[in-house]
Amino acid sequence: MSAPRKLFVTTALPYANGKFHIGHMMEYIQADIWVRNQRMNGAEVNFVCADDAHGAAITIAADKAGVTPQAFVAEIAAGRKPYLDGYYISFDNWHSTDAPENHQLAQDIYRDLRANGLIETKSVEQFYDPEKGMFLADRFIKGECPNCHSKDQYGDNCEVCGAVYAPTELINPYSALSGAKPELRSSEHFFFKLSDPRCEAYLKEWTAAPGHVQAEVQNKIREWLYKDEEGKGGLGDWDISRDAPYFGIEIPDAPGKYFYVWLDAPVGYLASLKNLLDKRCIELGGDGISYTEYMADPDLEQVHFIGKDIITFHTLFWPAMLHFSGRKAPDAVYVHGHLTVSGEKMSKSRGTGIDPLRYLSIGLNPEHLRYYLAAKLNNRNEDLDFNPEDFLARVNSDLIGKYVNIASRTAPFFSKYFDNEMQPLRMGSLQGVPVTADTAGFAVALANSAEIKAAFDGREFSKAVRLIMEVADALNKEFDGFKPWLLAKTAAVDPLAKQQLAQICASSIAGFKALTIFLKPILPALSVEAERYLNVAPLTWRDIELPVDPENFIPSRHKFNEFKPLMQRVDSKVLDQLFEPSEPVPAVSVEPTEADALPGGEAIAPTITIDDFAKIDLRIAKIVACEKVEGSTKLLRLTLDTGEGKTRNVFSGIASAYQPEQLVGKLTVLVANLAPRKMKFGISEGMVLAASHGDEKANPGIHVLAPWQGATPGMRVR
Ligand code: 2FM
Ligand code: ZN
Repeated sequence: MSAPRKLFVTTALPYANGKFHIGHMMEYIQADIWVRNQRMNGAEVNFVCADDAHGAAITIAADKAGVTPQAFVAEIAAGRKPYLDGYYISFDNWHSTDAPENHQLAQDIYRDLRANGLIETKSVEQFYDPEKGMFLADRFIKGECPNCHSKDQYGDNCEVCGAVYAPTELINPYSALSGAKPELRSSEHFFFKLSDPRCEAYLKEWTAAPGHVQAEVQNKIREWLYKDEEGKGGLGDWDISRDAPYFGIEIPDAPGKYFYVWLDAPVGYLASLKNLLDKRCIELGGDGISYTEYMADPDLEQVHFIGKDIITFHTLFWPAMLHFSGRKAPDAVYVHGHLTVSGEKMSKSRGTGIDPLRYLSIGLNPEHLRYYLAAKLNNRNEDLDFNPEDFLARVNSDLIGKYVNIASRTAPFFSKYFDNEMQPLRMGSLQGVPVTADTAGFAVALANSAEIKAAFDGREFSKAVRLIMEVADALNKEFDGFKPWLLAKTAAVDPLAKQQLAQICASSIAGFKALTIFLKPILPALSVEAERYLNVAPLTWRDIELPVDPENFIPSRHKFNEFKPLMQRVDSKVLDQLFEPSEPVPAVSVEPTEADALPGGEAIAPTITIDDFAKIDLRIAKIVACEKVEGSTKLLRLTLDTGEGKTRNVFSGIASAYQPEQLVGKLTVLVANLAPRKMKFGISEGMVLAASHGDEKANPGIHVLAPWQGATPGMRVR
């Protein structure tokens, strides 16, 4: 037997500026299934993550909330646990890139790169906000698109026409922070010389070596790494510095200069590991292994799970940082695609889709999501879709209807006829009842076992689930074939019937035990319940290591525990709730702690009487259709149902905040007695309510109002 693998596994470090969305959970679940599978293999795994705490976006979010960046990220960090525990993510440690370990490690790596001749400085011209006294990141500069002339576009690309440009090309640029006109100023920046021939040669070799990255990811990387026929393209030097004020790690010997967040973010993997090992050393009082010793182990494999949007950082910059600072580069970077919900793309900042905590709070089972995602995940960089009908079918028909069902059908016979004791399991044939390969479910379990395990090792979870369900199908077919409910009727008087009943129960429960092993990486809590019923120690892959002696897989007369229902089906009504407009979840508050003088950026309007208010007729309206308005970048055309027996046409200036398909089917609030207004594009019959800041330039964002659950079109809002 080969020595157990030693694995250091990470998932991407989430920005500490918001709650987790379903995309985060998918990555954690993918990595967690793989890690649990490795642990079942006997591997020694350290599985860590941390908050990615630094950078301009977080500084600004903290500023808005009126707290220090440190306090801001601490509050975000405090909200992580319910998600991680709730979905059984078995991280060994959760840390922060702002922790001392990371400051130290990032600075050490930088010094080593500098000593290796790979750091240089250059003067860079950049926009500066004179009011805020700071250089502006591209996303904090806005202006008119030089290509299509849409207003209020970001400094790096236009969301309307898709053009990519430098912030200096924007027409009438303004600071998104203060609204001020930015000035061009020059500043000294630090660069990691990725264009150095040593880096180029090394990265060509590292990315092409087997196992480091998936084939389809290699193809993407080639586009960045290789020059074209005219000698253009290839890796440029990487700007790794930012000027103060910046929430980050100071660059050694460079006062007022900080590492760009993406320099110290992946170092956070090491920092979290170091923090974990240091804590263990303290706990174990000298018996623990030090970080340096651990990292020096040539057998250690370093594995990163990431999404497809951050490939460059992990397959180019990060291996180069490690290698040229005298450290070992990662052994594998596993890239997954993005998760769409009913075909709709999720966005990191909008966090659309399914709210993971809401999923839990309305009583949906986290293991159902784990199972569903596993059934769809493969080892390629491909997007996958969460589809509610598909979810319902896979969980109810496959997981419950096939796997859980085997135990719930078999257990009553054991307790009623066999004193809850295992019966002898005979493979092959049984007096008069042929047990052929395709009816003997347990035989199929043994036949598929090695392939299932290999599929888990290779992150081909959908293949594993398919093979597991093949086993479950065979077991159910065998069970149905024996008709144990009929055998049970005569078992008391007919010894052959009793023996056949014993045989089918033994085969089914052995199959159930095999399935429990197979599904354990995906279903950590359910497997504990199944182990309790089976009355066995925690199952591992060793329990089904071939060749298995069927008679001893569960020894005859082994006693089972009392059976309790293992898992409930998904209730489609509860699932529907997940997609209804939700009440705000008060998980992590990022609201300002000090009251602003002007709430929402504007003073409260003069007082009116209740009679004044009553003049405004607000009604719940369902958005039955929505489309872009040709010739307008601001407006969307909404078709609203207010229960009047006809629809209304309303133009709303919300195109910058929503894609039409996001709104269709949703409820909102309409000012229903507003005089119709003739506009360039047609008549608008009312107005939809939406929230925005008084100073929209500095605080962009429009938020359409949605009623709480239960409201229906036509209801009056008062
Ligand atoms: O894209 C992101 O969400 C980053 N915060 C990921 C960082 S991964 C690692 F490098 F820290
Ligand atoms: Zn444009």
